[in-house]
Amino acid sequence: MSLIWLSNQTRIRRRVQECKLAMFGIFAAVCISNVQAQDSASTSAQIEQGEAVFEYWCATCHSAGPGMPGTQALQAKYSGNIPAVITQRSDLTPELIAFYVRNGISVMPFFRKTEITDSDLDALTRYIVNSASSSAN
Ligand code: HEC
Repeated sequence: MSLIWLSNQTRIRRRVQECKLAMFGIFAAVCISNVQAQDSASTSAQIEQGEAVFEYWCATCHSAGPGMPGTQALQAKYSGNIPAVITQRSDLTPELIAFYVRNGISVMPFFRKTEITDSDLDALTRYIVNSASSSAN
């Protein structure tokens, strides 16, 4: 084994290593851009999912009309200064909605992850925020 052969081997190994790193970088970049594309593409599907979650868990208290405990309580709480129906509110952020859903307030129960999963909650908050902005006066 000559010294030249040894140093060549080391150099080759280093090149292979660099190559692998570069390939990984490209792979990661492609993955990230795919995820971003999916994120915006899934938005309308997510809003539909969110609407279904809302109808199932929230509508009995937060729909418009009389006899809705949530709508009535919020009408009283804000004295009609902001919409009492949460899907018409433009001041609610996803974080705030998620906080109330996970913690509850007054007669509103909190919802477990076995009832509303994190992905359902994400869809739900998108639906509420989106319906507020599309019904914005
Ligand atoms: C059993 C009836 C009931 C159900 C079901 C219910 N809520 Fe509520 N919710 C209420 C009541 C009542 C309040 C007002 C409590 C208070 O502050 O007096 C409220 C308050 C809220 C608030 C806070 C608004 C504010 O400005 O204080 C949010 C957000 C909210 N609910 C979202 C939801 C979502 C989303 C769901 C479905 C996952 C849901 N609620 C299910 C009754 C309910």
